[in-house]
Amino acid sequence: MSEHIPVLLNGVLDFLSPADGKVYFDGTFGGGGYSEAILKQADCSVIACDRDDLVIPIAEKLQAKFPSRFSFVHSKFSDIKQILARQNVQKVDGIVLDLGLSNFQLEDESRGFSFKSKGDVDMTMGLCDETAMDVIRRCSEEQLANIIYSFSEERFSRRIAKTIKKNLRYIKTAEDLANAVRSCVRRTGKIDQATKTFQALRIFVNKELEELKLVLSEIPELLNSGGKIVVVSFHSLEDRIVKSVFREYGQEKGVFEILTKKPVAPSEREVANNPKSRSAKLRALLRL
Ligand SMILES: C[S@@+](CC[C@H](N)C(=O)[O-])C[C@H]1O[C@@H](n2cnc3c(N)ncnc32)[C@H](O)[C@@H]1O
Repeated sequence: MSEHIPVLLNGVLDFLSPADGKVYFDGTFGGGGYSEAILKQADCSVIACDRDDLVIPIAEKLQAKFPSRFSFVHSKFSDIKQILARQNVQKVDGIVLDLGLSNFQLEDESRGFSFKSKGDVDMTMGLCDETAMDVIRRCSEEQLANIIYSFSEERFSRRIAKTIKKNLRYIKTAEDLANAVRSCVRRTGKIDQATKTFQALRIFVNKELEELKLVLSEIPELLNSGGKIVVVSFHSLEDRIVKSVFREYGQEKGVFEILTKKPVAPSEREVANNPKSRSAKLRALLRL
């Protein structure tokens, strides 16, 4: 499995500006790229979490390297309040969220995230109630079409839902699901026709937008004065939520300040080195 290359790492560090004695929360530990960089930049502490138990061995290695400054909890970031409370921490000096999937997840055949995968139609990142296949089976054609449309703005959602339901008994793997979508929508550009359907199912199964809204709603209570939250998102549905919540907070004069009037995007060089970074957008907010 290839390593996960942290996206927009310099931007994250510039905005967070880790300092000695401060405490940071990394809600999407993944390959640990952000956590490790923060710990190396200053004599600070990092409390991290990830919903995927696949990352536990990586977190254990980092814990061995920084035993008194790093801790990891297998949990969803929407549980931030409880995670911090269990560590006797009330407020932190920085929160970072790097949404989306890690390379480990994308490349794990058994998870079915990639439409080339011969694994089950699973798409769960961990700590989920149901898999994508459960959703496809449980939902009516209309409900499935609505999910596909709501979470990817796919114009052909009705046609796709109809084809999926009609061919349900032939769909065993993620690749079968992708082929069902491809059979009813013509490819027009570089992007595979199944991309949006996969994105929608993944967001729905992992309740990704609810998770994001929940954690953002906790910010006022959890950030120390001078603390920052930095969010890196990978699609417009997430970025829209971050933008609008930050704007709402920013309207309270003297309480919050938006640090990114426009989102920060990766440089051409970063995209060339790591094509998966191409759709990343970083937004940052300061607690005054
Ligand atoms: C893009 S990766 C993070 C990579 C990391 N910044 C690094 O530098 O290695 C996203 C990670 O966030 C995790 N994740 C996504 N949503 C989550 C949530 N609601 N709660 C906790 N972890 C989540 C995923 O399981 C995945 O491991």
